[in-house]
Amino acid sequence: MGPFHTMIRELDPRVQSARQMVADLAGVGVDEIALTRNSSEALEIAQFGLNLKPGDEVLTTNQDYPRMLETYEQRVRRDGIKLTQISFPVPAISHDDLYDRFAKAVTPQTKVIHLCHITNRTGLIFPVRRICDMAQAKGIITIVDGAHAFSQFPINVSDLNCDFYGVSLHKWTFAPVGTGFLYVRKSRIKETWPLMSGTERQDAVIRKFEGIGTYPAANFLSICEAITFNQNIGLDRKAERLRYLRERWTDQLASNPKVKILHNSTPDMACGIGMFALNGADPAKLNQALINKHRIYVALMPHSEYTGMRITPSVYTTVEEIDRFARAVNTELKTL
Ligand SMILES: Cc1ncc(COP(=O)(O)O)c(C=O)c1O
Repeated sequence: MGPFHTMIRELDPRVQSARQMVADLAGVGVDEIALTRNSSEALEIAQFGLNLKPGDEVLTTNQDYPRMLETYEQRVRRDGIKLTQISFPVPAISHDDLYDRFAKAVTPQTKVIHLCHITNRTGLIFPVRRICDMAQAKGIITIVDGAHAFSQFPINVSDLNCDFYGVSLHKWTFAPVGTGFLYVRKSRIKETWPLMSGTERQDAVIRKFEGIGTYPAANFLSICEAITFNQNIGLDRKAERLRYLRERWTDQLASNPKVKILHNSTPDMACGIGMFALNGADPAKLNQALINKHRIYVALMPHSEYTGMRITPSVYTTVEEIDRFARAVNTELKTL
């Protein structure tokens, strides 16, 4: 009822509270935060919005999120840019090794480095700050995929020294589906085109990235409640708990000769997400047994270099559930 009044005079102004809470949690200015519907939208604003000429190179990894890679592949077809995807060992060796792989792959054509803060596969945390510092020294723009990082562990986006940071708030922040944000370093706003049109007057204003027409403000307003929920837990405690849960199942599976742990457990390289592969057993069969016999859902994730089962406990996962999962895997593997 009364949509003009409700949207323009009541809901729109209140969304500023959500932006402010996101900005405060991320440690950046509210004039560098655009609310989006998810990470895909946030990251694609940056990926499509940058002026890149034929031959300009984007450097990323072959374990970045498929949709984000497809976005660059479309620019390869449409704009003639070059996409280079580096590979890295699984489990990862060290932050030094990951840094060196990026540093060695940079060429005079590299204009953008795109990387995950934490991957959605093995849950590997990258040395984002070091890579962004190296990129900045060479005049290379950095786009960081924070889809799984934000609110999984405490993050100060301004400490990362990146140009763009994209997040889905419906993941680890537990906000409703259809909420996310894009951080854009102030000095990069002007040169970046919005996905939907913006006026010239808005060129240097972060709000140009939010203009999508009529939108469901209720989703955005709920971000405030979700952030408050996380603050009540405490992000340090949340991260510590998630690390504990991952270590707990890892410890119970690591001695099974049919299991190969694919994450590096060094605390600054992993948080709640972990992954394992199987030696001499079919992961699809284990996956089916876990669903059909134990009602346990895990993510079976193939990749050209390895196939693993991703395990993602959250704050609502109990220690008993973790132990039941580990027992189920060890029991099923006796006959697979
Ligand atoms: C690393 C990573 N990036 C981006 C996305 C895209 O997130 P969304 O589907 O919420 O846009 C995902 C989704 O799982 C992801 O894991």
